[in-house]
Amino acid sequence: MGNGVAAVARVREAEDRLSNRNFEMLSGFIYDYSGIKMPSSKMTMLEGRLRRRLRATGIPTFNDYCDYLFKHDGIEKEGIFLIDAVTTNKTDFFREPKHFEYMTETALPELVAAGHKRLRLWSSACSIGAEPYTMAMVMQDFAERQGGIDYKIYATDLSTDVLQAARRGIYSADMVQPVPPEMRRKYLMVSRDPSRAEVRIHPHLRSMIGFGRLNLMDDAYRMGDPMQMIFCRNVLIYFDKPTQARVLSRLCDCLVKGGFLFVGHSETVTGIPLPVKQVANTVFKKV
Ligand SMILES: C[S@@+](CC[C@H](N)C(=O)[O-])C[C@H]1O[C@@H](n2cnc3c(N)ncnc32)[C@H](O)[C@@H]1O
Repeated sequence: MGNGVAAVARVREAEDRLSNRNFEMLSGFIYDYSGIKMPSSKMTMLEGRLRRRLRATGIPTFNDYCDYLFKHDGIEKEGIFLIDAVTTNKTDFFREPKHFEYMTETALPELVAAGHKRLRLWSSACSIGAEPYTMAMVMQDFAERQGGIDYKIYATDLSTDVLQAARRGIYSADMVQPVPPEMRRKYLMVSRDPSRAEVRIHPHLRSMIGFGRLNLMDDAYRMGDPMQMIFCRNVLIYFDKPTQARVLSRLCDCLVKGGFLFVGHSETVTGIPLPVKQVANTVFKKV
């Protein structure tokens, strides 16, 4: 495309706006499918994210995109990409580090003292993997100190994009800064090519994690194993209270008695009847 034509296309793109009706259809679909609330204050954000889908699909306008989705059964094919585009995936290694201190100093010793040697942990909105890999580093260190522990970590998310990145387990050197130096030496492999400032998670640690797609909106979570620990952090904030209640109640069904639930520091379970007691800030134990 010549410069002039590209400039005209950019102006057209910037002028294209979602109609109220299309916004309502899209936000209704997103809410029903993923639980993510999309109030009208998020219109500009949604437009920004959908522009990338328009470019990727070659569909010229929001109106054409919505016609394709809702009038021509495009939702079957495009729905998954639309959901990928609207999820917010911000995450970090050792995010909310107090949770990992609690895990090492209190939760794991308590579980072992209660006779749990087979530990199943679940990162239920794992994004690109920083959370389950952090859990795996903490868990592996503990298992080595303790001996006789059999552990496995499950990591699930709704977005297929983030799961792909999580499975690869390659991160920028900047992103792994919060990992303590001793763990960095043990669990991160630095690229031999110094021009690539990136690291790869050690294959053994990767082998301890099973990744899969799971929608927290599902009626039941078929995880197979009962869990000793569930992390559901920084995803509840996107849901309304009734959705939070349903998700948390189903997560509690997956926990063993005496198992631990971790939610994000800005999230609350207050007012939701759950079979748990609070044991630390944003940490709950099933009773
Ligand atoms: C902000 S990230 C949080 C990542 C990680 N738990 C953390 O605290 O760093 C939120 C994640 O929730 C996922 N998510 C949103 N709705 C979901 C749903 N209905 N089921 C499963 N995952 C969902 C998003 O795809 C995103 O990766």
